[in-house]
Amino acid sequence: MKVTVVGTGYVGLVTGACLAEIGHHVICVDQDEMKIEKLKRGISPIYEAYLEDMIFRNIQEQRLSFSIDMEAAMPGSQVVFIAVGTPSLEDGDVDLSQVEKAAREIGKHLSAYTVIVSKSTVPVGSCRRIAQIIKKNLIKEVSFDVVSNPEFLREGTAIYDTFHGDRIVFGSRSKKAVDILTELYKPLHQKILVTDPESAELIKYASNAFLATKISFINEMANLCEKTGGDIQAVAEGMGMDQRIGNKFLQAGIGFGGACFPKDVSGLLKTGEKYGYDFKIIRQTLAVNSTQKQKPLEILEKIIEDWKDIKIGILGLAFKPGTDDVREAPALYIIKELYGRGVHVKAYDPVANDNMQSVLSFPVTYCNNPYDAVSDCDAVILVTEWQEFKELSLRKIRRLMKRKIFIDGRNVFASESMKKKGFDYYPIGICCKEIMTQNLVEGEIYIDESEKSNYTGSGT
Ligand code: UDX
Repeated sequence: MKVTVVGTGYVGLVTGACLAEIGHHVICVDQDEMKIEKLKRGISPIYEAYLEDMIFRNIQEQRLSFSIDMEAAMPGSQVVFIAVGTPSLEDGDVDLSQVEKAAREIGKHLSAYTVIVSKSTVPVGSCRRIAQIIKKNLIKEVSFDVVSNPEFLREGTAIYDTFHGDRIVFGSRSKKAVDILTELYKPLHQKILVTDPESAELIKYASNAFLATKISFINEMANLCEKTGGDIQAVAEGMGMDQRIGNKFLQAGIGFGGACFPKDVSGLLKTGEKYGYDFKIIRQTLAVNSTQKQKPLEILEKIIEDWKDIKIGILGLAFKPGTDDVREAPALYIIKELYGRGVHVKAYDPVANDNMQSVLSFPVTYCNNPYDAVSDCDAVILVTEWQEFKELSLRKIRRLMKRKIFIDGRNVFASESMKKKGFDYYPIGICCKEIMTQNLVEGEIYIDESEKSNYTGSGT
């Protein structure tokens, strides 16, 4: 099948490359000339596992090409994907200007029946709006269908997710369009759910908001564990063994970031507002997440009396491992706050140093390896759980640091072993004696490890 993909951002590129990989002829269009020139040479503008190889291979095999010219790209395409950006506006609403522009362009160049696929994450009702815009811009009388086909790809594993997805959703009332898309995706052998367009549009937002809520829930449980005693990882394990709950997305830490969760949760909240519905749970999901990002600062505030001449090392800048994306990354917030306290910030990320440097104007010292980033530091904050950090020589880290404060924002290390190694170690949601003692309400007694016998006994 011949396919046009409008937009060579993260979603557009992955979609285009994967459709070419399964045998279709794909042309990806973008208005950014420089990006297109690079892509023609097989250079990916984003870091995504296997993507660049896939792009290169499919260009070589003449199934994938790139262009800035919609007029040249569209003829003969049975399917046109809209995969342009839908960023958040200041007020949390979704900016649909790029989607609307793409729809206008598509309308102008439509010459035969085509299935238009709305792949960008767009609020409910957008398919209808896209169809209206296309209709208004048609030069000649042709029929078309607009289908909502949301993506559920995670950054860093987007190619894997495309080939191993749990479901493919088509939101359409047209059998003809659904048949064409079923044929298009057939080589992926995945479950297909056909709904009306509004439900499909909501499925995407609901899924992301639900997952984000799961994270905020476990983060609140973690905060409670710190007060009551308990280990959030054990709590999560116990919860996750219940198949109704599942063990995914129960990793406590210093909050979620990225291009999707914060934007989509705000977008769903905004949709609620527009329709006169206050979506209370997801309002709290966002509120919890923004307090969770402050945890490393809260911990430091308790330990550091004088912020003068303090040096702090940040391990990890990307919003999660496996990507160079720093959008809404907790590291952004933490660095800004530290800078506000006059801290000298050193940072290291295996792939995101450059991206962070381009969005942050503060004078951060970016390092080429994790050891340089912690050297001479009073404290270290592990923000992203890269595999590389799990394999660090902790003895070397301790030796290089000035004070040994280690805040583990992703619970990568074992608490007891870190303490034995001489760190002043602060994980998330794992109660340690110091914290618990601080939290004691007057009159309560903290039970020390040495008093374990109080929990056991035998009697006559
Ligand atoms: C997400 C959705 O998973 C994906 O289906 C959708 O298409 C886009 O948004 P992504 O943003 O790439 O994908 O990352 P994901 O792996 O879902 O993680 C999102 C954030 O949640 C990260 O900041 C991560 O650190 C955090 N997270 C995730 C947790 O804090 N705890 C967890 O248990 C899982």
